[in-house]
Amino acid sequence: MKALVYLGPGKRALAERPKPAVELPTDAVVRINKTTICGTDLHILKGDVPTVATGRILGHEGVGTVEEVGSAVSHFKPGDAVLVSCITSCGKCENCRRGLNSHCIQGGWILGNTIDGTQAEFVRIPWADTSLYRLPQAADHEPFVMLSDIFPTGYECGVLNGRISPGASVAIVGAGPIGLATLLTAQFYAPAEIIVVDVDDHRLGIAKRLGATQTVNSRDGRAAERILDLSGGRGVDAAIEAVGVPETFDLCQSIVAPAGVIANIGVHGKSVELHLERLWSQNVTLTTRLVDTVSTPLLLKTVLSGRLQPLALVTHHFTLTDIARAYDTFAHAAESRALKVVISSSHG
Ligand SMILES: NC(=O)c1ccc[n+]([C@@H]2O[C@H](COP(=O)([O-])OP(=O)(O)OC[C@H]3O[C@@H](n4cnc5c(N)ncnc54)[C@H](O)[C@@H]3O)[C@@H](O)[C@H]2O)c1
Ligand SMILES: [Zn+2]
Ligand SMILES: [Zn+2]
Repeated sequence: MKALVYLGPGKRALAERPKPAVELPTDAVVRINKTTICGTDLHILKGDVPTVATGRILGHEGVGTVEEVGSAVSHFKPGDAVLVSCITSCGKCENCRRGLNSHCIQGGWILGNTIDGTQAEFVRIPWADTSLYRLPQAADHEPFVMLSDIFPTGYECGVLNGRISPGASVAIVGAGPIGLATLLTAQFYAPAEIIVVDVDDHRLGIAKRLGATQTVNSRDGRAAERILDLSGGRGVDAAIEAVGVPETFDLCQSIVAPAGVIANIGVHGKSVELHLERLWSQNVTLTTRLVDTVSTPLLLKTVLSGRLQPLALVTHHFTLTDIARAYDTFAHAAESRALKVVISSSHG
């Protein structure tokens, strides 16, 4: 089969690899119909994720059809249409039983990391019963590709952790796919203000179309001042960090209102300065989270009912044979104006 393989920092190739097979009774093999690329895949390619070995097939997002199941898989059978979660969970360990699927003792984020991933014609999914979600056979499956990772991430790490409630004021720093998924799911709770911050005017334009009440380009370094002005000097109830650099975490600390929440989503490669000397008396809560994908069943229903429309984030389409171009397009998002690129297998 064809697969996108990591060949060490800066190197990747579409290669021919053996089709995976069921190895354990709890496994399923899924034929991938559509997959996508995550910012984390770009981090891997930079060599930032040491757990990814040379030769690994990348990808942790996708939809497909069950090809084969192990003898212990009871919820799925060959032919079922499924969503692959970016988090693999056994459903049985202490962490899974607490809803901490991202810290599953035998799973977590392993796809396209410590085991072969979804940017291929087929993928082996361990703990298939609790790591796959059934899709309606007849529906268009493309919107659901966005539910493998970005929507649960924006919703769980941003919206739920940010405790967004009716009438609240929210700032989302970062208008990438994750920030925009946060923007769309924040609107479930009818906040009064959603200010979206980025350095890219094109992405800010998309944020405005998708429901931001205000947008702020932070390139001039005056974003904190402007957000404080927009909130009458008070700051925002939820400051959501969706970039992952010290500068944007710092901005969140400057704009959070008393008793507000700083909800960090960004993956940080460097330490940040925590301004406790300012925050200590402000009753501020700081949250972090690796997405658990426990909200996937609920998000599936919002897509099926038309309440959530993830296709708003899909900008480009490629086939698996053309995945090199998909990576180039996604990696140069400022020029290509890419948000999510969908990669379809040649078998449809
Ligand atoms: N917590 C989790 O479980 C989890 C899961 C998936 C992704 N993530 C992380 O979420 C973050 C966002 O992901 P994404 O795919 O949307 O990334 P992205 O790179 O597409 O988007 C980041 C956005 O931030 C903007 N930006 C960069 N520097 C900025 C600055 N100084 N000020 C304001 N805006 C700035 C960019 O223009 C871009 O639009 C990443 O750090 C990613 O690794 C976290
Ligand atoms: Zn991801
Ligand atoms: Zn587990």
